[in-house]
Amino acid sequence: MSSETTLPGLVPTARQVSAVVVEQEKLATNTYRLRLKCPELAQQIRPGQFFMVKEPGTNDPLLGRPFALFDTYEEDGLSVGIDFGYVSIGKLTNLMTHWSAGDPVQVWGPLGNGFPEPGDGHLMMVAGGIGQTPFLAVARESLGLKSYGNPPRELTGRPSKLTLAYGVRSKDYLAGIEQFTMEGLDLQIATDDGSFGHHGFVPELLQNAIHSDTPPDKVYCCGPEPMMEAVQKICLQEKVACWLSLESPMACGFGACFSCVVPVRQADGSWDYKRSCVEGPVFPAETLIFED
Ligand code: FES
Repeated sequence: MSSETTLPGLVPTARQVSAVVVEQEKLATNTYRLRLKCPELAQQIRPGQFFMVKEPGTNDPLLGRPFALFDTYEEDGLSVGIDFGYVSIGKLTNLMTHWSAGDPVQVWGPLGNGFPEPGDGHLMMVAGGIGQTPFLAVARESLGLKSYGNPPRELTGRPSKLTLAYGVRSKDYLAGIEQFTMEGLDLQIATDDGSFGHHGFVPELLQNAIHSDTPPDKVYCCGPEPMMEAVQKICLQEKVACWLSLESPMACGFGACFSCVVPVRQADGSWDYKRSCVEGPVFPAETLIFED
């Protein structure tokens, strides 16, 4: 049974809930999928949104961490929980590898803006490492296999072509390939060391697609900052509409602490800091300023 409390008024739809671990699966080297039962969150969340996760009953680690929705799961036709992916690289994520069925977890969300509607052209999703996480729900929604949100979002168009270009450093880090294998999705893989798929970096797959017979009309991208910066540059040069989903560090997730601010270009050419957790994490590529 999960209890529910509202968060401060900055994100009216978000709730803090007591979730329960349903299962955990190792997907690849240091990479896991966790399934949590939390119907309140599962019924609201949309592709590209995220939630915060914290180990309950401890201040070590003190803070929660943001995770993007991988997918929701259903019982009796109703969304009752969420799946998400993570890489064990810090205190909380190392602890999480020991979580097992029945363990309680503190969760709050849904948070952030999510991806815009995919539209009816060629949508290309470009992912680096664990940045593939948000794209399973995008793909399933775009292909009409699932709907998300309450009320469920009714898309006004569906992509004529859907591509996921997914890059990792070597084949041992490929996570979720089984889930991404679906009719209607062109899955392209790049590995830095050439151990699987294209030998090279994933922005090269975007370049190839742009110069193909069916170039993308729209690009969604999530991954490490240098890779997103490369994708931003390509899309600006080639005049392809692009949205980047940032993986900013976050402390609260609902707009109160300003730990997640990023410089964003304004319509008048000036720039201002925006909170990635509220105004993002998905931003039009042309508005983001990457700081070296
Ligand atoms: Fe606190 Fe964004 S994480 S304002």
